[in-house]
Amino acid sequence: MRSFLIRNSKVLFLGVLILLFTGCSGSPDTVVESPDGEIRVAFTLNDAGAPAYEVFYRDQPVILSSSMGFDFKEMSSLKEGLKINDINFSTEDETWSMPWGERDSVRNYYNEMRIALEETQAPNRKINIVFRAFDDGIGFRYEFPDQPGMEEVLITDENTEFNLTGDHRVWWQPGDWDIYEHLYNETNFSEIDAISKRNDPNLKATYIPENAVNTPVTMKTDQGVYLSFHEADLTDYAGMTLRVDISNNSMVSALVGSERTGGKAVISAPFNTPWRTIQIAERAGDLIESALVLNLNDPNIIGDVSYFTPMKYVGIWWEMHLGKSTWDMEGSQSMNTFTKSGEVKPNHGATTENAMRYIDFAAENRIKGLLVEGWNTGWDKWINTDDREGVFDFMTPYADYDFDKVMAYAREKGVEVIMHHETSAAPLTYEKQMGVAYKFMKDNGMNSVKTGYVGKIIPKGEYHHGQWMVRHYHKVLEEAAKMKIAINAHEPIKDTGKRRTYPNAIAREGLRGQEFNAWSADGGNPPDHLPTVAFTRMLSGPIDFTPGIFNIRFDEYKPDNRVMTTLAHQLALYVVIYSPIQMLADLPEHYTENGKPHPALQFIRDVGVDWSESHVLDGEVGQFVTIARKERGTGNWFVGGITDEEGRTEVLKLDFLEPGKSYKAILYKDAADAHWDTNPQAYEITSMDVTSEDTVEVILAPGGGFALSLMQK
Ligand code: NOJ
Ligand code: CA
Repeated sequence: MRSFLIRNSKVLFLGVLILLFTGCSGSPDTVVESPDGEIRVAFTLNDAGAPAYEVFYRDQPVILSSSMGFDFKEMSSLKEGLKINDINFSTEDETWSMPWGERDSVRNYYNEMRIALEETQAPNRKINIVFRAFDDGIGFRYEFPDQPGMEEVLITDENTEFNLTGDHRVWWQPGDWDIYEHLYNETNFSEIDAISKRNDPNLKATYIPENAVNTPVTMKTDQGVYLSFHEADLTDYAGMTLRVDISNNSMVSALVGSERTGGKAVISAPFNTPWRTIQIAERAGDLIESALVLNLNDPNIIGDVSYFTPMKYVGIWWEMHLGKSTWDMEGSQSMNTFTKSGEVKPNHGATTENAMRYIDFAAENRIKGLLVEGWNTGWDKWINTDDREGVFDFMTPYADYDFDKVMAYAREKGVEVIMHHETSAAPLTYEKQMGVAYKFMKDNGMNSVKTGYVGKIIPKGEYHHGQWMVRHYHKVLEEAAKMKIAINAHEPIKDTGKRRTYPNAIAREGLRGQEFNAWSADGGNPPDHLPTVAFTRMLSGPIDFTPGIFNIRFDEYKPDNRVMTTLAHQLALYVVIYSPIQMLADLPEHYTENGKPHPALQFIRDVGVDWSESHVLDGEVGQFVTIARKERGTGNWFVGGITDEEGRTEVLKLDFLEPGKSYKAILYKDAADAHWDTNPQAYEITSMDVTSEDTVEVILAPGGGFALSLMQK
């Protein structure tokens, strides 16, 4: 009874609907299928008029009957007593271009089922539920049509269930209301324990109220099907965590709250919630290739973004994280002084001379961008205090940083300076200042800014992932777009595909980045971190991970910290971890060997940052992943592969290359005796000529990787 698919025809549907009444209780199932027929969503109202949905993949259930509903402050819940007023089916098949991205264009192909519901009794509230079935998963959202009594309503809970079919393998991180900078955990669903992740000593702001996970959360069923749960188009609502019921294999939406409103989200009809998304895949790599989350966002509304060009960049950054220098001129604010309290050693990183040194390094290596952190006054007071409003003005350089001189030198050398706005989690100050700050940037030829929100949000009672901050992050994108400025947000709201609508949202952090390797008390990111991130966090969008550490142990700065990968693994990240901005995170002096440029630096010089095609060649969540990308403009290909603490052999068929063409291949790989722990910097470089008929075999060391450039001859 569930296999009807009716496209574009309400009239036809009404005819078929009658056939569907076969004596079952409540309403009959109403069904929408993916264009290829493999995925099916069925909607029902039970006898009490309560809505529920089920999802099938290849005729097997992947989500069991799951209910839906809302609780409000000062209004009864909306979860039963509903009737169907109308059902509409439609199909969309469009292809849209990405101004920058993993590919030139994206196909958005789905069948939609829109169900208009109304309470049978007063207050006769209306709600629509819209389902879209794609070949790679489903999305659904709630729409509150314009109606009386729905102005300024406070939602206290959204109760969307996701009832799983078993005790799946899950790659999860806790549903923290303030930060996504947790390691991923791999356990069975029944073993999820977010509460055990409370009070992470590395985090300045963290709040995990219940046993819930953050999204994207990725799972593998016993049948080998991959599922990933997330949301799309989070614009004016609270971020969604998923509360887990470990004894019943069940999850329910748990929105991030606000202690100031005592609820989760304030809405005024007409209002659409974000889409709840479930990616469904046969191959782990298909999760990465899916554009479902992007497709559930509206098309570009800001127009041309050619003011932003994808680029590699260097920065006065890692040196503060290592404790080599400080953000503040006074000398109290390096990561060393945060982790070993009391040490004060004036050693400002952002000096005119140091910035000029980085500019020289960038220009010599054809690296386009330079980020300078600690250029503006205020860093002596930016953290460890509740009094953080007005600490920064985003305009006033330190006395030892000749802003005009640095900008002129950068211009002369063809380097673009990236602005840095650390807000110290005081968004009200930032909202007051940002208009002037963006004008100052534009007046000085700056087109992109890295923003930051370290610490507990002021005002108290708001969280980084709640509606109030979602509105702030959105306002930043809008104001920046007006001024033709691109945003790379750290301590951000998670990405939900907004770069389709606002392609000035170029990248963000929202994960445990490279910086943790410099200072975290738990020793840094283990070798399986990025093979997990690729199938979890990366499904939401571009990551400013800041790869490329060549001096893996940096004992001269931090004997107790290190990077837990090989050097070749670091190279591979330029391809594996997608971002239109990629940092050369290490210190310029670490990119040399025996006084000459480090031979492996050549890969970073060559590698693209903007792609016309991307293919996941191989991979398993949390274990390994190999990705091939074709550079826009040149037609050159780059391949990156990384592995966890297991060494392995990858056999690459180069059949993605253009047939009949010859390419110069340069392979940067782990040396035979390389190992992330004992011998992380041992690498080899080999060159050969190849065609699409060839196969390349590479051995990856434990915690290792490889990078392959394939340049057209
Ligand atoms: C945290 C960011 O993730 C990091 O990149 C930055 O250097 C510091 N905040 C200071 O803004
Ligand atoms: Ca951070």
